[in-house]
Amino acid sequence: MAALHIAFALAIFTGNAIGVNNGLARTPQMGWNNWNSLGCDVSESLLHDTSKTIVDSGLRDVGYNYVVLDDCWSAGRDEEGFLQEDLDKFPSGMSNVANEIHKKGLLFGMYSSAGEMTCARYAGSLDWEENDAKSFANWGADYLKYDNCYHMGRFGTPKISFDRYKVMWDAINSTGRPMLYSLCNWGEDYTHTWGMSIANSWRMSGDIYDSFSRPDDLCSCTDASNPHCIAPGSHCSVLNIVNKVAAYADRAQPGGWNDLDMLEVGNGGMTDEEYKAHFSLWAALKSPLLMGNDLRDLSASSLTILNNPAVIAVSQDPLGRSVARIRRDLNVAKDKYGVGEIQVWSGALYDGDQVVILLNAAGEDARISASLEEIFLHEGPESSAPQVKEEWEVYDLWANRMDNAIAQKILDAQGEEELSKLFKEANWYNATEMSYKEGLKKKDQRLMGKKIGKIAPGGSLDKKVKRHSVEMYRLKSVGQGGKRYKMHAKEEL
Ligand code: GAL
Repeated sequence: MAALHIAFALAIFTGNAIGVNNGLARTPQMGWNNWNSLGCDVSESLLHDTSKTIVDSGLRDVGYNYVVLDDCWSAGRDEEGFLQEDLDKFPSGMSNVANEIHKKGLLFGMYSSAGEMTCARYAGSLDWEENDAKSFANWGADYLKYDNCYHMGRFGTPKISFDRYKVMWDAINSTGRPMLYSLCNWGEDYTHTWGMSIANSWRMSGDIYDSFSRPDDLCSCTDASNPHCIAPGSHCSVLNIVNKVAAYADRAQPGGWNDLDMLEVGNGGMTDEEYKAHFSLWAALKSPLLMGNDLRDLSASSLTILNNPAVIAVSQDPLGRSVARIRRDLNVAKDKYGVGEIQVWSGALYDGDQVVILLNAAGEDARISASLEEIFLHEGPESSAPQVKEEWEVYDLWANRMDNAIAQKILDAQGEEELSKLFKEANWYNATEMSYKEGLKKKDQRLMGKKIGKIAPGGSLDKKVKRHSVEMYRLKSVGQGGKRYKMHAKEEL
């Protein structure tokens, strides 16, 4: 907490723009939210059991620390105009729920809407912002997801939406309780152009659904800046969302992030490879990583995607820069929906490293190659980047994925003693003990992945990528490497 206050004071005195200046979400927030798998089926026992699993399965210690309760928790307002929790669903009361979550070393997130009702038609916070922010603070909330339904027509220009969301931001601030502020207005009114002034993250799309690339008329917009795209929609696939954010991926910054929506990993609609691709892209695009599966029913294969420290280290990289898309090939084999494309994404990481994602969203397996000139395009076009002339080691970030058998043992373990033995055996990365920043400084092997080869100066990365999957690599310079970003990293650290 002291560190938070210092960051806050520094921001004020130096006039530095650091996102919304509340010191939170310096790296994308991580945690869990019930909506994708459970919708309105919320209760005290759900939050209790989920928090327990987050701790016991080691997920808290790889970084998932926010437990976020979505819509459908309230029972309307009392006579003084304060929201009441539904005591049938939360019999101990919301403060006690928050206490229990805090006791487990986790943080508590709540939900409301900048409208007269929430999307599931519970009382909304529009024009009740001060009262509601007070309630959230009094209950002990550390996070507010703030939705967009029933806004009574107060949208249509960036300024109108900005003003509506700013009222809650001011109300939160006046409570004095640090709360991560997460906008959920689905990218409407160009949120990516103003979200960073008042929020720690902003949704940039209609709701995700559990499909890798299936088009759906409910989510027709692939280009959010298209004026004919009248509604952000819902039922948006992973590929649809990725294609929307491509044009403004670089708006992500420490303190404020493009939110690609909660994860679908483990919900059953995609293959293992598709879930790995979904997780990799969300991490590299610096989206918040909020697990969206029912953790009471967590499988070993989902756990070993969600707990991959080499991929999470990209999400939590101290440089805080998103990957950018450097190539999109549409002239490739299509799948049964007529969808097919190949993409190459690349971005700078701490210490002059670079992350590269080869995405095969085509209808069949393919070879994908990317030259150093392309990979370092944003450091200078047409081979002018110094990085193009260097030799690079290539580390595969999925090669050391945890074995399912070990993960299953962890899920089946009884008692702390057995668990801590298993975590040791599994060489589990514990970010509670050593942050990703520290781990990266120390070049912890678990964050690096597995070395699989090198790229010669002026050379290319060239890999076979299975259909509907990604290959994800960390490139490390053999020589001086990415000097510019070393300097950058120093400033940031
Ligand atoms: C949607 C929102 C979802 C979920 C839902 C609750 O507007 O995008 O993530 O919060 O409302 O009703």
